[in-house]
Amino acid sequence: MLIKLNPDGIVQPSPSEITPEHVYLNRRQFIARIAATAAAGSALWEMANREAFAQAGTRLAARRNAAYVAPDKVTEFHDATHYNNFYEFGTDKEDPAANAHTLRPRPWTVSIEGEVKKPQTLDIDSLRKMAPLEERIYRLRCVEGWSMVIPWVGYSLSELIKRVEPTSNAKYVEFITLADPKQMPGVRSRILQWPYTEGLRMDEAMHPLALLTVGMYGQVLPNQNGAPVRVIVPWKYGFKSGKSIVKIRFVRDQPRTSWNVSAPDEYGFYANVNPKVDHPRWSQATERRIGEDGFFKRKRETLMFNGYPDVARLYGGMDLRKYY
Ligand code: MTE
Repeated sequence: MLIKLNPDGIVQPSPSEITPEHVYLNRRQFIARIAATAAAGSALWEMANREAFAQAGTRLAARRNAAYVAPDKVTEFHDATHYNNFYEFGTDKEDPAANAHTLRPRPWTVSIEGEVKKPQTLDIDSLRKMAPLEERIYRLRCVEGWSMVIPWVGYSLSELIKRVEPTSNAKYVEFITLADPKQMPGVRSRILQWPYTEGLRMDEAMHPLALLTVGMYGQVLPNQNGAPVRVIVPWKYGFKSGKSIVKIRFVRDQPRTSWNVSAPDEYGFYANVNPKVDHPRWSQATERRIGEDGFFKRKRETLMFNGYPDVARLYGGMDLRKYY
């Protein structure tokens, strides 16, 4: 998502170029061993522990919802957790996995504000328990031209919305994410306007596919994937799916969103996956599935609404070239 640079033109590391898990684990053990022999309580020891904690992966019980299982091959966990966009931790794909151990996903609260009859602040456990957790396998298509298939854990965002009772003035939902320079080194840079914010129109947010997400691969969200809570909107480009949310605000007017503010002619508010509407600097007709399609292999075709045709009814009569 670098501005004014075509990501397809940048040599990005293929997953095979990223440190394999066993090497990575050995490195961690190595750090832990050195740290153990050094004075206990040293910064290195703390670093090794924090990293191990961040990667621990507490299991989350969830029932698979067969109505939402993409038939595609699921992306390897290692690829899904080591090829990320999370600019609060750096702009390279491997930066979030390397740096996000400083994020503290507990304690965590999400405040629900604005045009609702029941504004409230929920801690992460209450949020998780608000509705039964489901596992859903969704495609995630990034505007940069790559995609993954991930088993997310969460429940329809509509479950939360119904419980807080939006007023008739609530036309949009705004998602505001954490921007704490102490935990997130990337927010000191000016690459985006912080906090990272995103938004949906109310009917989009109420669509059952929109997922309030607290886990993936049967465990709590790893820090680099947006712990402890994010949204996943699978028919839209990945940048609509804000990570590490701290506020959900119901508003009358279309909210400003980080990428739209930074490059309005490149990243629209709607951002529906659409192979017929190219990004000004590159085509959206095809995509590379991480872990499957190599740099030199033919890319696969991108599907309208990322293969979720049911959502077309949300956009009847709208010119999707204008509202990109
Ligand atoms: N959320 C925050 N807070 N910061 C970010 O930089 N990047 C977005 C989105 N959510 C981003 C974010 C982009 S561009 C994509 S493609 C997806 O997260 C990537 O999600 P993943 O790393 O879990 O695959």
